[in-house]
Amino acid sequence: MSQAPSRTVVVLAAGEGKRMKSATPKVLQPLLGRTLLGHVLAVAQAIHTDRTLVVVGHKADQVGAYLADAAPEATPVLQAEQNGTGHAVRIALDAAPELTGTVVVLSGDVPLLRPETVEALLSTHERAGAAATVLSAEVAEPGGLGRIVRDKDGNLERIVEQKDASAEERLIREVNSGIYAFDAALLREALGKLSTDNAQGEEYLTDVFGILASQGHPVAIEVAEFAYETLGCNDRAELSRLRVLMRDRVNDGWMRSGVLLLDPATTWIDVTVTLEPDAVVDQNCKLSGSTTVARDAVIGPDTTLIDTTVAEGATVLRTHSIGAQIGPEATVGPFSFLRPGTTLARKSKIGGFVEAKNAELGEGAKVPHLTYVGDATIGPKANIGAGTIFANYDGVRKSRTVVGEAAFVGSDTVLIAPVEVGPGAYVAAGSAIAKDVPAGNLGVTRAQQRNVEGWTARKRPGTASAAAAEAADTTSEQE
Ligand code: UD1
Ligand code: CA
Repeated sequence: MSQAPSRTVVVLAAGEGKRMKSATPKVLQPLLGRTLLGHVLAVAQAIHTDRTLVVVGHKADQVGAYLADAAPEATPVLQAEQNGTGHAVRIALDAAPELTGTVVVLSGDVPLLRPETVEALLSTHERAGAAATVLSAEVAEPGGLGRIVRDKDGNLERIVEQKDASAEERLIREVNSGIYAFDAALLREALGKLSTDNAQGEEYLTDVFGILASQGHPVAIEVAEFAYETLGCNDRAELSRLRVLMRDRVNDGWMRSGVLLLDPATTWIDVTVTLEPDAVVDQNCKLSGSTTVARDAVIGPDTTLIDTTVAEGATVLRTHSIGAQIGPEATVGPFSFLRPGTTLARKSKIGGFVEAKNAELGEGAKVPHLTYVGDATIGPKANIGAGTIFANYDGVRKSRTVVGEAAFVGSDTVLIAPVEVGPGAYVAAGSAIAKDVPAGNLGVTRAQQRNVEGWTARKRPGTASAAAAEAADTTSEQE
């Protein structure tokens, strides 16, 4: 019985990435919802690899900890000293002596590569019965990269590094992407023959091609359909270019699936986010983490959603939201801040300048203006007046406030938790409520008002206020 040949992915991620000038290793730099390495591991997963080995070296502890958390299926292999890409792959294969079949080599800093492109590489590799196949790219500026040297028939002769290339070879604009497929046994054998007799004194993985070709083994080339997919990055300027390319690709995908993006150039959607057709995103928005946006919801302008769920037909305007659930046809903003545990039921409203945390709003409940709602349950159809503070923290403990169905809290109220305002109860504006207000009661803590007659004339003589008061004063004209 024949089995499908096994596939092993080796990801090269041991380099330092000095030019990033960062305490974070290059492969752990973030790019629209994943690290650079995370994007590469997602490709490895998508091509149904049997096994993924990640060569780590620089800050191996940090990269290893990331792998344990984000990609437990991947096995780190330590390359203590970075003696070149050939050395890195040799160490990976030494750690897996039983490995056979096809070895796919990916680079930890090439995040735009798509699984489809690796599948194309693999099918060329298999169709040609090749010992080794390289993914090449035609680029305008090949500077720094390895060049693909073809013979007069167009077959791969060898790959030459920029630093070792002749002036003539440097004119070649077909470059090595650093992404390959190999036959495991032949790769192992060729790696044993690498020398460090080159401009960088390193074991070059690329030399495997020249070795295999000179032994008469078939070697193949797959030219990438989209050269930009093979771009790596060495510094933050290059990383930001990759981020723009990734943004455009993500946005194109969502627009083609029916999402309306009004200004894709200022819309940043992590690869982990999902949107339904007919969702609308206006300009200057950032959607990240596990955020989801349902159909007919309108987001933005100027909105950040992190790990936020937005249901059908909701509106979220100029808002910063993290860990909130925004219900169907709910409205939020402008200028509001939703924090974790905020849950807004259907048609509820968070208006302008409201901060909410651990707050549940029932169906149709309204918190329209200038309010802090911390640790609260607000019943359906309840209305919270402008300037209300849910005082949830006594300096030691956080406590909860419950506002019942269709209760009405007047403006400038402090609700001092733990406290409950019953269903249909009212609270007078300006109250400080520390005791429960039973259903249908009015809670009021204000002092009685008294007016001091003639105060302005006596205490502020000669002011505009006194003049206005005198003009308005009808009592002296009364006979
Ligand atoms: C390499 C190729 C070059 C190709 C380029 C594409 C070689 C000799 N050259 O160039 O032809 O155009 O990639 O980007 O392979 N790494 C290790 N251990 C090491 C050295 C590197 O894990 O000892 C990792 C790096 O972290 C990186 C990848 O391998 O992820 C490529 O290394 P890098 O130094 O960027 O490759 P170059 O030598 O520039
Ligand atoms: Ca490189």
